[in-house]
Amino acid sequence: MANIRAAITGVGAYLPEYRLTNDEISKMVDTTDEWIMQRIGIKERRILKEEGKATSDMGARAVKDLLAKTGTSPDEIDMLICATVTPDMNLPATANIIAHKTNIHNAWSFDLNAACSGFIFSLSTATQFIESGRYKKVVIVAAEKMSAIINYEDRTTCPLFGDGAAAVLVEPTTEDIGVIDYINRVDGLGRHHLHIKAGGSLKPASEETVRNKEHYLYQEGQAVFKAAVSSMADVAAEIMEKHNLNAKDVAWLVPHQANMRIIEATARRMGISKDQVMINIRKYGNTTAATIPLCLWDYEKQLKKGDNIILAAFGAGFTWGSTYLKWAYDPK
Ligand code: UT7
Repeated sequence: MANIRAAITGVGAYLPEYRLTNDEISKMVDTTDEWIMQRIGIKERRILKEEGKATSDMGARAVKDLLAKTGTSPDEIDMLICATVTPDMNLPATANIIAHKTNIHNAWSFDLNAACSGFIFSLSTATQFIESGRYKKVVIVAAEKMSAIINYEDRTTCPLFGDGAAAVLVEPTTEDIGVIDYINRVDGLGRHHLHIKAGGSLKPASEETVRNKEHYLYQEGQAVFKAAVSSMADVAAEIMEKHNLNAKDVAWLVPHQANMRIIEATARRMGISKDQVMINIRKYGNTTAATIPLCLWDYEKQLKKGDNIILAAFGAGFTWGSTYLKWAYDPK
């Protein structure tokens, strides 16, 4: 029997309508459009403003878009993985809530928390289930309501992040397409540089933790920047070398969208020119787990069957990794 590979066979997305611009952020904290564009490269980000709406609402809309686009019935789905650091609640898993909201009843589901590497870690996980031959249709939905954990009085973090969701369908193939390989890594020491101090079992929420704003994301930007530049570029270069890929063999680099300078450094290290890099940070900011599938969604019409694509991510944990895949379909 021919080897089974796992291929992405469709992409769906949902972005909230509200656009939080740099000009608006400049009225909330001491910053400027010029600083944000020069140091980060973000012009605006989407924010889920509707009262009572959460990560699962965006995730469910992305999954519905995916199912409609691929002509898939919810009953056909075997498994759903939700990559998120902003679950609706600490428990149950947001994946279960999304499955309920999308009428996915013949599946099991779970959340995967790998921060900005959440999508690539989920794709590696889905790949195992598909390659085993036992699973035929796995949905990965990366969804984040980052605005729920951002302190809009902190100029060092609030310009960076945005809300959004994207979903992919992963199916088996025996053709020479799909996920070829991946390299994933973690370093738990990095947790000191990027985390949320309170609300977990280490420091349960209290009046004091709320007063100290410890329920918001805490980041030491420079330390994270340094680690992101070296780790993401190294692992992307490593997977290219392992598969004897030159820059000209790669159709697209799809990097996590945290900072334009990190994206440029990664592309430089791989010898890849800017027109081979998917970039949408300017309009959505850093949507954590959702950045990579949102890029695939934005660029879907430009992708051709057999295109060599390198995904690369770095995030809290620290977590990082790179996936090499061959795109599975031509524009529809
Ligand atoms: O996706 C998860 C992984 N996260 C990342 O990859 C983020 C990685 N880090 C970064 O992207 C960058 O470190 C930041 C964008 C967060 C910060 O950029 P930076 O060039 O590293 O700035 P910095 O922290 O070194 O700060 C330089 C100066 C400081 O002022 P002083 O101390 O030199 O007077 C900051 O207070 O810039 C100041 N600053 C700002 N100024 C205007 C920091 N944030 C702002 C701001 N507007 N929004």
